[in-house]
Amino acid sequence: MKLQECYGLWMSGQWHKAGKYKDLYNPYSGEVLARIAQADASEGVRAIEAAHEAFAVFGRMSAYQRSEILYRVAGLIDERREELARVTAMEAAKPLKAARGEIARTVETYRFAAEAAKQVTGEQVAMDAAEGGHQHFGFTIRVPIGVVTAITPFNFPFNLVAHKVGPALAAGNTIVLKPAEQTPLSGLLLAGLFQEAGLPAGVLNIVTGEGAELGEVLTTHPLVRKISFTGSYAVGQLIQRQAGLRRTTLELGSNAALIIDENTDIAAVAARCVSGAFAYNGQVCISLQRILVHQSLYEEFKQHFVTAAAKLITGSPLEEATDVTSLISEKAADRIMNWIGEAVAGGAVIETGGLRSARNIIAPTLLTQVPRSAKVWTEEIFGPVAVLLPFDHWEEAIREVNSSRYGLMAGVYTSDIKRAFEAARELEAGGVVVNDIPTFRVDHMPYGGVKDSGKGTEGVAYAVQEMTQLKLISFNV
Ligand code: SIN
Repeated sequence: MKLQECYGLWMSGQWHKAGKYKDLYNPYSGEVLARIAQADASEGVRAIEAAHEAFAVFGRMSAYQRSEILYRVAGLIDERREELARVTAMEAAKPLKAARGEIARTVETYRFAAEAAKQVTGEQVAMDAAEGGHQHFGFTIRVPIGVVTAITPFNFPFNLVAHKVGPALAAGNTIVLKPAEQTPLSGLLLAGLFQEAGLPAGVLNIVTGEGAELGEVLTTHPLVRKISFTGSYAVGQLIQRQAGLRRTTLELGSNAALIIDENTDIAAVAARCVSGAFAYNGQVCISLQRILVHQSLYEEFKQHFVTAAAKLITGSPLEEATDVTSLISEKAADRIMNWIGEAVAGGAVIETGGLRSARNIIAPTLLTQVPRSAKVWTEEIFGPVAVLLPFDHWEEAIREVNSSRYGLMAGVYTSDIKRAFEAARELEAGGVVVNDIPTFRVDHMPYGGVKDSGKGTEGVAYAVQEMTQLKLISFNV
């Protein structure tokens, strides 16, 4: 797939010139990848109006037709998986093997959406269960809601777009997509793929840019019925304020924790934790950040973890062997180093890593003896840093995990079934993984957080529910 030199705005099934453009840089090499349109508020309004116009037709399209389009797009992505993985590797600085994994998941996500399109159903309501309901026959249907805006992050530029675009189309809605300013190419490439798959003009509109006015239009315009956002807590809070009574799904990240109980086979688990903490440089909402290990296993776990982390290979995202590469930006690397510095100033010990090298690469880092007030413990680091803490009692570990303001996914390793169920019940998170890391996700499972991790649920069929309106039909017979 050859990249264009310059990308405009995709609206009503055509490319439109924008008033302003900006260069997009490869975070690893610094080379310019393309020039990208920077939409202003009026261009945002045009995209919303295009989506609204297209809804009149698309909202009436059959489930069969919507499903076929989604299957076709999944097939087209599958055919081009290597080219698309390379685009992600370049614009997101995602190591090629991780980028390939993301594209494979994207194909699945669109296939799940194609299946979900055929399962948008309601149910019978026993109207006559109420005294006044006699002779009424009731049922519900699910109807599309209209224009959805999707605001997506840089870290999974194909798959987290698919988690919004797929369900929106499955439900019969039209979309304005604003991909992350750091990784717009993957969103923009969808324009051609969906056109080839037969999606009618105006159903998917793509606006790029980073201006606050564009974001405001996408969250406040009267024709917008729902906003689906993945990103930071601060922006999520702003969107929620701007959205007013509109529907929102906000996936705002976390500082995911794992509890490792006594009697765990520590070598295998430590290797798995290294992958959970450092995959894509820890720039994953469910990256393993806080590891609580039973005191009896603490030293052994630490040694295995440090040995496995040291084996990770640093290099260009386009090299086959690379595990760790540039962070998304210099600003991100500065922040992460500051947070490590703050923890160390408070008494934390760097067991491995803690070093920054050229091209904004930070070595996989493990910290111990971290003060509980340090940001590496309380906030979402979104970088290659994990914190290790020993515990004596299971209840104490559960309390530590729950002390976080976040609650997206949590994990426990235990062979004690009672403790496993206790964790499932007690851990304050949208999902609890038993005997695996909290970084586990397959794309049809419900996915969404509690507390400051956000609101609403993704996972294709669940997102479809949130993107449809339940409507009651009552017949007086
Ligand atoms: C996320 O970072 O929000 C998504 C993680 C995933 O899909 O694996």
